[in-house]
Amino acid sequence: MTGKTGGREGNRADDLKFMKIALKLSRRGMGFVEPNPMVGAVVVKNGRVLSCGFHHDFGGKHAETMALERLAVPGATLYLTLEPCSHFGKTPPCADLIIARKVRRVVASMIDPNPLVNGAGIARLRANGIETSVGLCREQAERINRHYLTFMRSGMPWVAVHAGLSLDGKLTDKSGRSHWITPPELRRCSHSLRGEFSAILAGSRTILADDPLLTLREAGWQGKKLYRVVLDSGNSLPHDLNIFKEQENFPLVIFSSLAAANKGKRVPRHFFVPADADGLQLPAVLKQLAGLGIASVLVEGGGRVNDSFIRQRLFDEMVLFVSNKVVGGRDAVQLFASGAEDLERAPELTGCHRSEFADGSILRGYRKCSPA
Ligand SMILES: NC(=O)c1ccc[n+]([C@@H]2O[C@H](COP(=O)([O-])OP(=O)(O)OC[C@H]3O[C@@H](n4cnc5c(N)ncnc54)[C@H](OP(=O)(O)O)[C@@H]3O)[C@@H](O)[C@H]2O)c1
Repeated sequence: MTGKTGGREGNRADDLKFMKIALKLSRRGMGFVEPNPMVGAVVVKNGRVLSCGFHHDFGGKHAETMALERLAVPGATLYLTLEPCSHFGKTPPCADLIIARKVRRVVASMIDPNPLVNGAGIARLRANGIETSVGLCREQAERINRHYLTFMRSGMPWVAVHAGLSLDGKLTDKSGRSHWITPPELRRCSHSLRGEFSAILAGSRTILADDPLLTLREAGWQGKKLYRVVLDSGNSLPHDLNIFKEQENFPLVIFSSLAAANKGKRVPRHFFVPADADGLQLPAVLKQLAGLGIASVLVEGGGRVNDSFIRQRLFDEMVLFVSNKVVGGRDAVQLFASGAEDLERAPELTGCHRSEFADGSILRGYRKCSPA
């Protein structure tokens, strides 16, 4: 649903200005609200911002409630990056609060695809005489909420493949070492990226080779819950590995093959799924993660795991941290070792954004034909 519905025309330049504030605010919930959406709200009257809000954390107050709960100014315009909810969930319906506060006009970027809402919030506002308009800055709002939208529409998490690479596409040197393949500045950005996601996923060989904690220690992400997911077909990871530590804030999820179920569960969230020639069946893994309420997964490889996700086109986004080093080596682990059948069928990125640093760069883009 696009365009204006009912009532009088708003000033488009002002609408755009205030919606941009709401979009910026919404991003402050990044990493903390999933599987809920990020939402920003701005209340305006006579060209002045009266109050603002954003959805802080999962299960917490909605953006509309934050913006309106202490406000008693009838006749205002409310800018929202997502349609207000109309049902009792963890909080009461925001549409009812908007009606009670006598808001005159609501401008929303998009309809909420959650089947419990899906246009019902806007319909309730209209039925109560509130002027509504849907679609302003929809593209930006959808991009910000790409994890949520994919999760809602497909029932699967958004998947980003992430790797630190040499200039010639190697994840390790020829002896298999990956430490310091990227410079410190890129490594810091790469760790911080984990905060944007609900889960981080790695293969058993990386866990054995590097013994990583896979936690989130960067500033700005304190208190964030991050699931760590490991693919261990044989159910044979030794218990003294670092990955078994810090499970309170960083719950560990292990996937093993059905054939290894007889070895028993090592952690409460240990799942057994079918395997094939590639290893564990990734759609089954992703479905199980969605069942845990995980709306986004950052795949941190290594090579074989990245290869499976890329070859099976089970990724929506790619984030590559590329150093200026040329490492070479036929035996070095590569990003996509099995390779494309031909150039026409090679996976391709779109909407790419590149950030340059002194000793490397970050390339971030979306898989062409990605669902969101
Ligand atoms: N530069 C970087 O960004 C980066 C990041 C991560 C890792 N690394 C490096 O990469 C190296 C490890 O990479 P790797 O290619 O040897 O192994 P890997 O990708 O870390 O792990 C592969 C293993 O995961 C398990 N697995 C289960 N299901 C799978 C599936 N569907 N697809 C693929 N694997 C599946 C298999 O072992 P089981 O049969 O035991 O389950 C498989 O052998 C290490 O040296 C590490 O340091 C580099």
